[in-house]
Amino acid sequence: MKTERMLQSQGFGSRKDCRALIRAGLFSIDGVVIDDPFAEIPTTELRFEVDGESWRYREQAYLMFHKPAGYECSRKPTFHPSIYTLLPQQFANRDIQPVGRLDQDTTGLLLMSDDGQFIHVWSSGKKRIPKEYLVQTSETVSDELIANLLAGVKLDDEPELIAAFACSREGDRMLRLTVTEGKYHQVKRMLVAGGGNVAKLHRNRVGGLELPDDLPEGGWRWLEPGDLARLADLRGVAD
Ligand code: URA
Repeated sequence: MKTERMLQSQGFGSRKDCRALIRAGLFSIDGVVIDDPFAEIPTTELRFEVDGESWRYREQAYLMFHKPAGYECSRKPTFHPSIYTLLPQQFANRDIQPVGRLDQDTTGLLLMSDDGQFIHVWSSGKKRIPKEYLVQTSETVSDELIANLLAGVKLDDEPELIAAFACSREGDRMLRLTVTEGKYHQVKRMLVAGGGNVAKLHRNRVGGLELPDDLPEGGWRWLEPGDLARLADLRGVAD
């Protein structure tokens, strides 16, 4: 692939921007500057540097983001800053999008990708992918609330009861709740319908993939093949 095209595919700007960047001597492979925008380079296992920063060529991008509170998942947010302000500009340029959304005040694991099929599969409620949340409530969690969530609660606009896939008490005011749909404000609405409320919401797992302890709020990490395999491995979370 030509260098300028490769950089454009990775989100480094328009073809013209990438050409200028290469001609300015800012593109290198293994520290060797390549200033020809039309030089052919193999993309397999390609690692390169742009202005001294190392990157790996990724035909498609898959990553996890530890979403902090106070950020909207939209690129054009309404009331709060966008999560894209916390991510490299290349991600917006190559149209990396969240896989489903978390509310502005929800924290935790958000998958992101520019692979439309992946986004569809992992955000669709039809696949019944378990998503686990830690729910902090402002009042003591009652047995009745847990029973209601497990039995199914009625949400406005939903013809059928929606039941938690799993629900257990984690503390006096804390629940561990797993749902498999992806409905708007689902957890908050379920809690209210079940007779409780949500003071704080944190997602710590999607499918078989857990938010790692060492990924700080606002941090992101590429998903490597092992992570994608773990994501799809529902043994232990779906039985
Ligand atoms: N359910 C909610 O109510 N909010 C979220 O952000 C995610 C699930």
